[in-house]
Amino acid sequence: MLILNKTAGVFSKPSKRNMYEFLRSFNFHPGKLFLHKLVLGIETSCDDTAAAVVDETGNVLGEAIHSQTEVHLKTGGIIPSVAQQLHRENIQRIVQEALSASKVSPSELSAIATTIKPGLALSLGVGLSFSLQLVDQLKKPFIPIHHMEAHALTIRLTNKVEFPFLVLLISGGHCLLALVRGVSDFLLLGKSLDIAPGDMLDKVARRLSLIKHPECSTMSGGKAIEHLAKQGNKLHFDFKPPMQHAKNCDFSFSGLHHIIDKMIMQKEKEEGIEKGQILSSAADIAAAVQHTVACHIAKRTHRAILFCKQRDLLCQSNAVLVVSGGVASNLHIRKALEIVTDATQCTLLCPPPRLCTDNGVMIA
Ligand code: KG4
Ligand code: ZN
Repeated sequence: MLILNKTAGVFSKPSKRNMYEFLRSFNFHPGKLFLHKLVLGIETSCDDTAAAVVDETGNVLGEAIHSQTEVHLKTGGIIPSVAQQLHRENIQRIVQEALSASKVSPSELSAIATTIKPGLALSLGVGLSFSLQLVDQLKKPFIPIHHMEAHALTIRLTNKVEFPFLVLLISGGHCLLALVRGVSDFLLLGKSLDIAPGDMLDKVARRLSLIKHPECSTMSGGKAIEHLAKQGNKLHFDFKPPMQHAKNCDFSFSGLHHIIDKMIMQKEKEEGIEKGQILSSAADIAAAVQHTVACHIAKRTHRAILFCKQRDLLCQSNAVLVVSGGVASNLHIRKALEIVTDATQCTLLCPPPRLCTDNGVMIA
């Protein structure tokens, strides 16, 4: 009776994880008894050292992450050798933390999955050599993972999304539109011809010295721009969205970045301030930059949706657009995308913020 009551309490909101923990308290090894596949995912493609253990049904049993953002903010951008060193210092601990949180022993793992591309070569190398050592030691299969494919498929952990769907990945290192036709069947529709939007926002934020702004000092460039934009008037500057007449779904941010840079220099002259001081018009610039980036992203995405619908590549009645990556957390950009999806009768889906940015779960 006591056990039944305890069971009722433990399982009042039943989850697999609760069940495993409950059974473990009786020395059962659910990994061996019930689970067919437990995958450890390892991610080190850029500036996050991340690991997670996920089971075959997509249950996240444990995860851990070490972000290098703070260090890279201070140096004004990612220095690959610094990122590599930080991955080296943290990978063992992060993998251990993910395993401990999941209460899965390394021998219970079915496989080890690791990001192998794309990304910073020095950063990828740390995850790869660590994983290969582990694979060798534990005699487990190795699953090489394409970072972008992992980002694109993550939504299926949280939402029931059928193939095909359209995905827009926008972050500091990525910018692409792809049709996801299956787990390993992607049609690339467009990509940035130069830098990614997050990279551009980071550069503008650095040029505006937002790290010295009392409200933005700990924020990433993109987040600082979003924060400041709320206090600014986007109509005070007139930046044009790039590639207005390009008949494809590609993106470009370098030209716009160059124009913004020139505008900032001109404003510094007008306000009589040195480079490195904060312009009184910084919030207006942030608002205009954010709006122009949002318009550009929304217009290119609109083209991609129309292209897919015209060619019957997406379901006519229930097309889905998935938006992910750090820049996808920007609410102004999301609003612009919502206007596009409303106008084209599509459903807009974004993974929760912790799964939008780099993480071990999406790799596992
Ligand atoms: O996905 P992520 O964490 O890392 C990769 O780049 O892979 O994205 C980081 C990027 C940075 O460039 C950052 O400035 C941008 O996402 N970001 C934002 C916001 N939060 C982060 N950009 C616009 N608005 C935000 N709220
Ligand atoms: Zn990424």
